[in-house]
Amino acid sequence: MSYIVRIVDLHKYYYLGGEALHVLKGLNLEIFEGDFVALMGPSGSGKSTLLNILGCLDRLSDGKYELSEVDVSHMADDELSEVRSRYLGFIFQSYNLLPQYTVVENIEVPLLYQNIKLNEITKQRCLALADMVGLGSRLDHRPFQLSGGQQQRVAIARALVNDPHVILADEPTGNLDTKTSVEIMTMLRKLNQAGKTIIMVTHENDIAEWARRVIRLRDGVIESDIRND
Ligand SMILES: Nc1ncnc2c1ncn2[C@@H]1O[C@H](COP(=O)(O)OP(=O)(O)O)[C@@H](O)[C@H]1O
Ligand SMILES: [Mg+2]
Repeated sequence: MSYIVRIVDLHKYYYLGGEALHVLKGLNLEIFEGDFVALMGPSGSGKSTLLNILGCLDRLSDGKYELSEVDVSHMADDELSEVRSRYLGFIFQSYNLLPQYTVVENIEVPLLYQNIKLNEITKQRCLALADMVGLGSRLDHRPFQLSGGQQQRVAIARALVNDPHVILADEPTGNLDTKTSVEIMTMLRKLNQAGKTIIMVTHENDIAEWARRVIRLRDGVIESDIRND
């Protein structure tokens, strides 16, 4: 097995009005392809900051980050957005769907970012994904016509459309009730069993139990790293 994520002595500073805020303090971490990691820790411990760096949405200040054995630490913005749209899928707590787009159109969005021309093949792929997440009968609905759980399922389908190497999820069930959370976690577990690497931030123990591995951050350092399986 190979590492899909490898970070070495990673530091992150935010600069606010001349003050440096040291948020991530020398993290070392390796994640194997096919793993399912829950990132936990108190509010402000740096979970989202780490996830954003792993998702190439933000840059590290010091250290090294290799994604699929490619050093992305010093890539330019356009290279990073290329990496994001080719290799990564994102799921957010607030779904982040485009309100004016239908279910199918929302699933197509990452293809547009890659300048892939929409055609019958891409359409069929999006329809199949909508079907897979149980929205085959809601294809023309817009987000406001869907429940929270349904919107998150659209977001999962959207995260899969580019066949990503890694799925990054920040509190994916944070806005959902218990029953719907179980549906969403069941779906993520199936994706993981099918081989997708998943890195998920959560502050809920019963959600973290779905992961294979639980990494706890505290005050910008890794406090513990435990396998569930
Ligand atoms: N863009 C930013 N600019 C300045 N400080 C930030 C920024 N994002 C996060 N922080 C600070 O970094 C620390 C960690 O934040 P975050 O990663 O969001 O924590 P968590 O997700 O664990 O709650 C917090 O003290 C937060 O205020
Ligand atoms: Mg957060």
